[in-house]
Amino acid sequence: MVALSWHRLKEIAWQELNQPKYLVYCKGEPLGTKAADVPPEASSVNYDQCFVRDFVPVALVYLIKNQDIEGLNGEAVSSRAVVGNFLATILKLQITPELAKHMERSPGMMPASFKVENDTLKPDYGERAIAQVTPVDSCLWWLILLQAYYRACTQDSTALHTDLFDGTEPQPKLRRAIRLILSLYLSHRFDAEPMILVPDGACMIDRRMGLNGYPLEIQTLFYAGLQVARQFLKPEEPYQARISHRLGRLQRQLCEDYWLDLRRLRVLYQAQSEQYDASPSADTEDHFFNKYNLYPESIPYEHLIQWLPEKAGYLVGNLGPSHLDCRFFAIGNLMGVVSNLLPPAQARSIMDLIYLRHADLLGEMPMKVCYPALEGIEWQLVTGCDPKNKPWSYHNGGSWPMLTWMLAAAALKVKHPSLTEQLREDIMKAGQRLIHDRWPEYYDGGNGRLIGRMARRYQTWSIAGILLAQELLDRPQNLALIHFGEPLS
Ligand code: GLC
Repeated sequence: MVALSWHRLKEIAWQELNQPKYLVYCKGEPLGTKAADVPPEASSVNYDQCFVRDFVPVALVYLIKNQDIEGLNGEAVSSRAVVGNFLATILKLQITPELAKHMERSPGMMPASFKVENDTLKPDYGERAIAQVTPVDSCLWWLILLQAYYRACTQDSTALHTDLFDGTEPQPKLRRAIRLILSLYLSHRFDAEPMILVPDGACMIDRRMGLNGYPLEIQTLFYAGLQVARQFLKPEEPYQARISHRLGRLQRQLCEDYWLDLRRLRVLYQAQSEQYDASPSADTEDHFFNKYNLYPESIPYEHLIQWLPEKAGYLVGNLGPSHLDCRFFAIGNLMGVVSNLLPPAQARSIMDLIYLRHADLLGEMPMKVCYPALEGIEWQLVTGCDPKNKPWSYHNGGSWPMLTWMLAAAALKVKHPSLTEQLREDIMKAGQRLIHDRWPEYYDGGNGRLIGRMARRYQTWSIAGILLAQELLDRPQNLALIHFGEPLS
C-alpha cells in the first residue's frame, strides 16, 4: 500500500461519501443516506435503509462541509438541506397519540430506520428488525442532531428547514414533537428513576449482549437529549422543572455509582452485602453503603486489578440489583465525556485510560465497541449463543471505525494532546486499511486486524466516522455542533 497524506485521506473519504448511490430519495427529495451500499446480488437485510443512528456522523460531516453534493439525477443538493430533510422526515414518522391507538408502539417513539417504496416512507420501529429490538436511542440521536443542525445553520445564517423552524424559532410542531418525546422518556413506570429502564439491544448494540436494565449508552444519550430538549422549549414550559431535576439526579447517579477506578474497586472488594434498610450516607474508605447489594465474588477483580492504571477510571456498562457489568463500552464512556455529564477530572481519567490501554481499546483499528469480549459460558448465557457475536467479533469486542469521531471529539473536549497526536497516527493507518478493504462495517480479533466476518462494505458511518474525526481534529471549533449545556441564543 502506498502511504497517503492526511489531506489525501480526507479527499478520498469525502469523494466516496459524496456519491448519489448512498442517498435515499422520496418524491424527488434526498432525505438521508443508506447504512451501506450493498451490491444487488448480496443480501442487504436492511442495510439499504436510512438508520437514525448511522446517519448522525454523515449528517455532521454534511453540516461541517456545507457544500453542494451530487444528487441522483446529476442535480446539486445542499448537504445541509439533506440534514434538514432528514430531521423533518423523522419528525413526520414519530408515533403520535392518534397513531399509537392502531399500533403496538408508544406515542413519541421514532423509528430505528426507514426505507422508501414507491415514493412512500416505510419506517421500522423495531417490528421488522432482527429479534424485534426497540430503538430507544433514536429519539435521543434525533435531538442531538437537531441541536447540531440548529447550531450550524444559525452560526453562518444558513436558512433552517421551514417545517422545523420559523426563522430561528422552533415551529409549534417541533416543540410538540419534543414534548411527546419527554412524555415517553420521563413517564413514571416501574423503574427506579433517574435512570431509564430498557430492554436488551435498544441502542447501537442491537442484539442480545446483556444490555437490558440500565445500560450506560442509553443513560448518557438520555442525559444529552434532555439538555437539548430543555433548550428548544420555552422557559415557562412545565417540562423545564422536571428536566432540570432529572438531569441533576442522573448526573449524580452516573458519576458516582457507575464510576470504577482502583479506589472504588478496593472498596467494593471489602463491601458488606445484605444491608437491609441501611440509611445511605456518604461513602468513605471505611464506610460503603452497598445499595445495589453487589456481591464481591461477581466482580472480575483479577482482570481489573491488573488492567486498571493507578490514575484512570471509567463508567461501567450496566448497574442493577446485584449486577455490576464491568465491561468498558465505548459509546457510553465517550458520550459521557462529550455530553458534559462528567466533571473534568473524571472525563480526563477516561481519556487517560484509553490512552494507556491503547492496545486493548483501539488496537489496529479504532475502536472497540466493548472490552473485553464475553467468552465461554458467559458468551453462551449472555448472548444466547449468538454466532455473530462470537468472542472478539461484531458487538462482542469487535472494532468499529465509526467510533473514531466520538473518540476524537472526547479527546479534544478534555484537551488531551498525547491522545489526539496518537489518534492522528491511528487514523492514517486505519484510513489506509479502510480504503483498501472497501470501508467495512467492523473488524474482528483482539487487535482489530481481521475484516469483520459478516461486515458489509461501503458502510456510510465507517466512511463518515473517519472523515468527521479528521474534520474535528483539523478544526476543533467544529465541536460547537455537539456542545451541550448553553441555552439557544
Ligand atoms: C447493525 C448495528 C446497528 C446499525 C445497523 C445498520 O445492526 O448494530 O447499530 O444501526 O447495523 O448499520
